[in-house]
Amino acid sequence: MSLQRIPKACVFDAYGTLFDVHSAVAAHRSLLGDKADAVSNCWRLKQLQYTWLRSLMGQYVDFWQVTRDGLDFALEQEQIEGDDIAETLMSAYLSLACFAEVPATLRALNADGQPCAILSNGSPTMLAAAVKNSDIHDQLQAVLSVDGIGIYKPDPRVYRLACTALNLAAQEILFMSSNAWDVCGAAHFGFQVVHINRFGQPAERLPGNPVAQLTTLEGLPALLRSVAG
Ligand code: LAC
Repeated sequence: MSLQRIPKACVFDAYGTLFDVHSAVAAHRSLLGDKADAVSNCWRLKQLQYTWLRSLMGQYVDFWQVTRDGLDFALEQEQIEGDDIAETLMSAYLSLACFAEVPATLRALNADGQPCAILSNGSPTMLAAAVKNSDIHDQLQAVLSVDGIGIYKPDPRVYRLACTALNLAAQEILFMSSNAWDVCGAAHFGFQVVHINRFGQPAERLPGNPVAQLTTLEGLPALLRSVAG
């Protein structure tokens, strides 16, 4: 497991990697009381499951709808009623916090001459809102959404979007994700991948291996400089 070549671009997964998906519930914990963590965890799990299942079923709807469906499931599971709570949490999803090290990491990569981009399941509207909220737009060369092709990660067509948009071969792209299944999908496609293992999760038993693992994005510029040197 090692980074073999200096990439020509750094491409980031969005949700869970740059943006903290649990910050939506965290901003409104009082609405959910002691069920807050259960709702947030179930919401994320169902949101992801629905992307995989809808892709298999050939029944794409955009990530905003999938996110709402996952939330509705989670609220019902935890026996929390009220459309107003769902509306509040959905609005909060448009202004998710980024992880603390993200702006400085992107600035450092840019300063080192690395173009940076996002490749995400998120709809263009959701991604634009999150990028604006974190004020990282100037550090990004491209914000790429699956919405134009109507299928979700880890379908290889999603990862190919980055090659096409950046005009690079797969091996020239370094992809960062905190979602271990996305790490496998991207590595199997052919990207060099760094697993940002924020929560110390075990590796997925799936094809595709990362070239490196970090606990946050903070060490990424140094990792790249170590290859360049
Ligand atoms: C994304 C999901 C996987 O941003 O978090 O694509």
